[in-house]
Amino acid sequence: MLIRRAKKEDYAVFAAIEAEHPGYPAWGEKGFEAEERNRHSVTLAAEIDGRPAGFINFWVLRPQVQLNTLAVSRAVLRRGAASALLGKLFEYAAKSACREIDLEVNEHNAPAIALYRARGFEVVGKRPKFYNNTDAALLLRRTLKDL
Ligand SMILES: CC(C)(COP(=O)(O)OP(=O)(O)OC[C@H]1O[C@@H](n2cnc3c(N)ncnc32)[C@H](O)[C@@H]1OP(=O)(O)O)[C@@H](O)C(=O)NCCC(=O)NCCS
Repeated sequence: MLIRRAKKEDYAVFAAIEAEHPGYPAWGEKGFEAEERNRHSVTLAAEIDGRPAGFINFWVLRPQVQLNTLAVSRAVLRRGAASALLGKLFEYAAKSACREIDLEVNEHNAPAIALYRARGFEVVGKRPKFYNNTDAALLLRRTLKDL
């Protein structure tokens, strides 16, 4: 598995991966493209067998990193792609002297919550009715001392 910076040509594949997960807040090709104009934004691809199989986007807002989106193709779930993408995010955070990594996750998204807990994140808050005015968002944080 190769973790690398995303390229324009990846965005259609990223949008297809989003579509594999109904209900997941999708950015679409245009959303990923728009991130290129944000100098704080980093988008990475996880490549398996020469093809993007997952992505992550985060903003490096020293002293924090905000994880905005992360998804992996259904065909390669539980093969460590998300963990590898998170591992790279941790490297960026450490290099940029960021002390904490923050994210929001749907309270019912058990796979993602399990992933983040396994990687040292803790629940630090909750935003009721955050998704479609129904599901709450859990606010998760990992601090740099753990990195
Ligand atoms: C959540 C998601 C990114 C995980 O991707 P993945 O590549 O399958 O995750 P990994 O293989 O790196 O899993 C690492 C660990 O996370 C946990 N985990 C991941 N998926 C899990 C599941 N379905 N059930 C329970 N634990 C899970 C496990 O601890 C796993 O380690 P293990 O396989 O050794 O048990 C993927 O399911 C996905 O794309 N979901 C839809 C999008 C989404 O919800 N993104 C999260 C945004 S906040």
